[in-house]
Amino acid sequence: MLPLEAPSHPDPYPSYASLRLRGGLQYLEAPNLWVASDAATVTEAFEQPACHVRPRREPVPDMIADGPAGELFGRLMRMNEGEAHQASRQRLIPFLDALDDEEIARLTRHRLDASDAPAPSDTMFRVPVTVIAALLGCPPEHEAWLAERTSRFVAGLNPLGHTARRDAAHRAAEDLMKVVSGFETLPAGPKDALASEVLVANLIGLLSQTHDATAGLIGNTLLALRKHPALRESLTRRPEGITALVEEVERHDPPVHSTKRYVEAPCRLGGTRLAPGDTVLILTASANRDTSLAPDADHFRLDRRERVSFSFGAGRHHCPGRRLALGIATHVITGLLERREYFNTLHHHGYLPSRHGRIPRLTSTQEEHA
Ligand code: HEM
Repeated sequence: MLPLEAPSHPDPYPSYASLRLRGGLQYLEAPNLWVASDAATVTEAFEQPACHVRPRREPVPDMIADGPAGELFGRLMRMNEGEAHQASRQRLIPFLDALDDEEIARLTRHRLDASDAPAPSDTMFRVPVTVIAALLGCPPEHEAWLAERTSRFVAGLNPLGHTARRDAAHRAAEDLMKVVSGFETLPAGPKDALASEVLVANLIGLLSQTHDATAGLIGNTLLALRKHPALRESLTRRPEGITALVEEVERHDPPVHSTKRYVEAPCRLGGTRLAPGDTVLILTASANRDTSLAPDADHFRLDRRERVSFSFGAGRHHCPGRRLALGIATHVITGLLERREYFNTLHHHGYLPSRHGRIPRLTSTQEEHA
């Protein structure tokens, strides 16, 4: 199994452990990649200034470059370095940091409680994206539409998807730019700090970054609870433990397994010399289980004193949505644990095809009989 196929494998962790045991960077010839899998090398890779989030020769993936989805992608802070990255980050972080935990809880529960037995696709994808939509100022009657367009945009970015999806992604990007530019989300920033099309692209970025990753976090937590009925019982009685559950799932069976870096200048990582044009796969899901972080890092334990995880990245591109994602997931799981029969109706059918994400395919008995 290659690390790029691993996130959708039933159990990729033994193969990560054997990579990690070798330490430093490992070269894989077929995909022409260097892999960083232990905590020290992963930390170094995230902090190395010569390792960029996109290759200089292809700032926007060729498959979408020619259209609105490519234009939007090219403006995302996640996909830029230097001034373009910093300016968007500085504008959005105060907004994300100021979000109120009570408000996140209220918005999440209100959307979850619209149904007694929500389908897993609703709890995993629709609820989180509509919460972000509401926080961005989307009128309630347009939230479902916005979530659906976000799904189409995200599906078009998946290199494992087909051409029809790319066309749909271009149309969705156009729709999203038009509609989100009408939201009164952020207080005005310092004059000329950020062009309005860049700001709007990055607000859409918040919706699209939420879409798959938060779905994977909720889905993998549902799987953990389905596997451990005793844990379900104890957390139903003691819901204050649900935050630790979500954080342990995020560390132990994370929704994002890896990310890539492209070498722009000669540098060293894990003792290996790298040259411009080299690509590094940062295997965060493996580094989370490095025993140098905790001797029992391979075990699933809610009572950890200190939990170290790379699932939300590190360094200059680390995820600014961590608190929001954990908050939404915690309140979704709390609401589902109150529906006592919910977990007995869940069916697991492997994982969605993805190079970096681990998102279970879940259905409910009600859906299958509908
Ligand atoms: C469980 C859910 C999530 C996970 C596991 C996750 C993970 C990550 C990771 C690993 C990165 C860094 C990528 C890299 O360095 O290559 C990242 C970046 C980012 N995430 Fe998240 N994320 C999640 C949810 C969210 C949410 C809810 C938001 C926003 C509302 C968000 C917004 C962002 C943004 C804007 C970036 C780019 C930051 C930058 O480039 O400076 N994420 N995320």
